[in-house]
Amino acid sequence: MNTDYKKQIDELISKMTLKEKIGQLNMIVTPQTEEEFEKVKQKIIKGEIGSMILADSATAGNDQQAAVDISICNRIQEVATKQGPHGIPMIFGRDVIHGHRTVYPVPLAMAASFNQELIKKAYRNIAEEAAADSIHWTFTPMLDMCRDPRYGRIIEGPGEDPLVGKRMARAIVEGFQNGNVANEDSLITCPKHFVGYGASEGGRDYYRTEISPYTLFNYHLPAFREAIDAGADTVMSSFNDINGEPVSGSKYYLTEILRNYLGFKGLVVSDWAAVYFLALQGVTANRKESAEMGINAGIEIDMCDGCYLNNLEELIEEGRVTEETLNNAVRLVLELKFKKNLFENPYCKMPEVEREEHIRCAYELASESMVLLKNNGVLPLKKEQKVALLGPLTYERRALLGSWCIDGKPEETASFYEKMFEKIGDNLWVASDTTGFYDTSAFVMYKSDVVVLALGESHLVTGERRSLSDITLSAAQKELVRKAKCSGKKVVGVIFCGRPIAMEGLAEDLDAILYAWHSGTETSAAVTDILFGDIVPSGKTAITFPRQVGHIPLYYNTTKTRFNCYYNDSPQMSYEDSIPTPYYPFGYGLSFTKFEYSDIKSETNEISLDDLKLGKKLKYSVNVSNIGDYDAKETVQLYIRDLVGTLMRPYRELKDYKKIFIAKNDSKDIQFEIGYEDLGYYLPDGSYIVEKGEFEIFIGENCLTANKFNLKVI
Ligand code: BGC
Repeated sequence: MNTDYKKQIDELISKMTLKEKIGQLNMIVTPQTEEEFEKVKQKIIKGEIGSMILADSATAGNDQQAAVDISICNRIQEVATKQGPHGIPMIFGRDVIHGHRTVYPVPLAMAASFNQELIKKAYRNIAEEAAADSIHWTFTPMLDMCRDPRYGRIIEGPGEDPLVGKRMARAIVEGFQNGNVANEDSLITCPKHFVGYGASEGGRDYYRTEISPYTLFNYHLPAFREAIDAGADTVMSSFNDINGEPVSGSKYYLTEILRNYLGFKGLVVSDWAAVYFLALQGVTANRKESAEMGINAGIEIDMCDGCYLNNLEELIEEGRVTEETLNNAVRLVLELKFKKNLFENPYCKMPEVEREEHIRCAYELASESMVLLKNNGVLPLKKEQKVALLGPLTYERRALLGSWCIDGKPEETASFYEKMFEKIGDNLWVASDTTGFYDTSAFVMYKSDVVVLALGESHLVTGERRSLSDITLSAAQKELVRKAKCSGKKVVGVIFCGRPIAMEGLAEDLDAILYAWHSGTETSAAVTDILFGDIVPSGKTAITFPRQVGHIPLYYNTTKTRFNCYYNDSPQMSYEDSIPTPYYPFGYGLSFTKFEYSDIKSETNEISLDDLKLGKKLKYSVNVSNIGDYDAKETVQLYIRDLVGTLMRPYRELKDYKKIFIAKNDSKDIQFEIGYEDLGYYLPDGSYIVEKGEFEIFIGENCLTANKFNLKVI
């Protein structure tokens, strides 16, 4: 508890009735109409509501949402502070996931930028826009580590690597909070979904997970630990169960792990109706038991199901929930409101936000997130070339913004066609039928110099409750690719997707592939500039691209078995019917230029465990030369492998990366430092160890680099 407000909070609590305290733990949806407002007003006056979510459904990610009505927020605030008990202000939350009015790439795409500074800047801008719309609290960052691209929500998170997860967590929390959530243009953050939700079996949403303690500590917790360390004030509990125990009812996960082990001191909010869902998951018989389980597990705010409001009083009378538990929960809610300075400054003053710089930043981040997966010399295009543009996403706007974009405006988002036309005017040829079913498409392909296909998926098949069983492009899109190939022209595929797709049977027919993701407001501008070489691509995928759906899960930080690790070794011993290795591995991405890596240099290949414990670092460097024709950025990646461990260690683990600019014909020495915190891992009891023995250090352009240096910890 922050001592600054302790006295005021104690005083308030001593004056509040039981009902008023319970009301502080109740979150509801913000009223949308005058009629609803009047009803809600009476509840606020009675002290039945402590917080509101600015959304009108549980799956706001893809639903058409009303824009935030600031005037209603200020009116609610007036009721709360002037007519509500003790003048306690309301706190407003919203899912501001990867943009507000200005939309940035979906988080999985952002991760491919490997540019944490830029991500932080983006979230600073997002906070300014959202705070100007009455939003105090965002349900971000989403830190669900995920190894299954069928899962629709994979697009909301950092992907398959814990280090990327940690860096995204810090960038987002620091960007939103800007050192002090009391600032009017800062937002309170809420890392979610704690914990393991990204491991949903088969990629099905809201589904069960089996997570061993080893995987929990080493894979799922690090990003949360980092977010907490970066100062996140709240955490959202997840819908999933782990090994049969729903997390939202689990004292083990929400108190022992989150609070006692990770040291989290803030507030836990349930996911939408997750307390009630405990009954649907079959661990409670009804809402009352759910409320009892939820609050005793460690959830302070009950989101949108009324379980606490309607049952806590009775539960306290019956001694099933103690008043101390209730008071502690209320304390955390009040503390959050004090921290956000809402007692002093409850109203949103609706400042005008200058968006020019934000749009520039969205463009920069979109450009750095896009990944050039293939290029048989066709890119960059030349403006003099006649370009046939076809494909289902040629005129699309909304999909480019991605899922979980509730305030971005499709009409402020250029279509790919518009930007291409701006760039090359009459050299752009489009068919009346962009999908290739009608023969004008064949005509434009045959008459052009090069064919560009706008392929991909709708935002409606990504995000919450939008998992897919098949992540290949539709048969119709593949047919279009085949037709384009038959034209004999070079074919460039621009793929607008939220998730990685299975590439076999598609990539072979394309001469170049630019993976453009759902990259927000500036998607089309960035794609077009990359295609014509005004921007040199520098994204590297933070998620593995499988060849086939049947190979999922496929992730780079796997262990080696008797014969191979199924990721890069010889393909025997896994499937008899297909090549099991990834189509594009983690960390992969091309440039228009070419980088050459020197051998790794280090002064030592031995260090004692004692020295490591005392904080001594190992220094590694490589020289990277830009030997191509373009100035460009490269993400230099450092991986380790612990060759013999008490428990099996991953075949490769990313431990550091640096994104650097190197002018053509120039080279740079890139230095890395590795220490105690990088060489160890967590045992199933949560303790951290570094073990003596041999390690390999890899530095290169992606996770399969062979550039290696040996190390012995003695
Ligand atoms: C989602 C959360 C989201 C919440 C509030 C839930 O259905 O799982 O990610 O923050 O709704 O909109």
